[in-house]
Amino acid sequence: MNILDFSQKKATQSKISMVTCYDYTSARILAQTSIDCLLVGDSVAMIMHGHANTLTATLEMMCDHVAAVSRGAGDKFIIGDMPFASYRKSLSDNVTAAQRLMQAGAHAIKLEGAAGNQDFIRHLTESGIPVMGHVGLTPQFMNILGGFKVQGKTHTSADRLKENVLLLQEAGCFALVIEAVPALLAQELTALLTIPTIGIGAGPHTDGQVLVLHDLLGLTLDFKPKFVKAFADGHTQFKNTIEAYIKAIHLREFPQHEHCY
Ligand code: KIV
Repeated sequence: MNILDFSQKKATQSKISMVTCYDYTSARILAQTSIDCLLVGDSVAMIMHGHANTLTATLEMMCDHVAAVSRGAGDKFIIGDMPFASYRKSLSDNVTAAQRLMQAGAHAIKLEGAAGNQDFIRHLTESGIPVMGHVGLTPQFMNILGGFKVQGKTHTSADRLKENVLLLQEAGCFALVIEAVPALLAQELTALLTIPTIGIGAGPHTDGQVLVLHDLLGLTLDFKPKFVKAFADGHTQFKNTIEAYIKAIHLREFPQHEHCY
């Protein structure tokens, strides 16, 4: 998958599959699948570093994880999240932040929100940096939104979302993540746009879907939003595997002859 395939997939109504990825080993496994693209999301701050929200993700953190993923991802298309406030400074600082993510191995960057981002998005695309937008529930705005809440439930906020997605398309975004909005509104937003939408908690009518890797593997322990489907019980399998290892140690079944020098 490369940048051109995003619009191609929308044109042919072929769904886009995206998953978050934060580390080299997972990237190597994902590289052996047919997943379309990998998002090094700022959710890394929560999933890999145990923070309560994404506001603590830093550019250094994002670059380290993008670099690790890019070493394992083969030819997968990698999108790197711009962390909180890193694109709300001077144009020069903003461009430097995006440049560092690209030089760490991203093929595109993602940033949250529309208002006030259009000029920067235009500047990046004119500088060779593809931009994925992100609307709806934008976790970096949790202190403005009053927490992790479904967006677009009133006429006013649905209308604002419609305006915003068009602004982002016009500014040059090649695709948009739509997070936590009613399924019918996500369908309307998708129909308004010529660029593809990738939904998370946005129903089945978006042009693609994204989930956090650890959620879909069933590894996440406490935070389980309604839209998450665990496709495996990774948590139980992980624990059982470790218990099997411990038991083998106690039963003196491990290590065996073939494991010894
Ligand atoms: O950081 C992230 O994982 C994301 C997805 C939830 C879209 O932005």
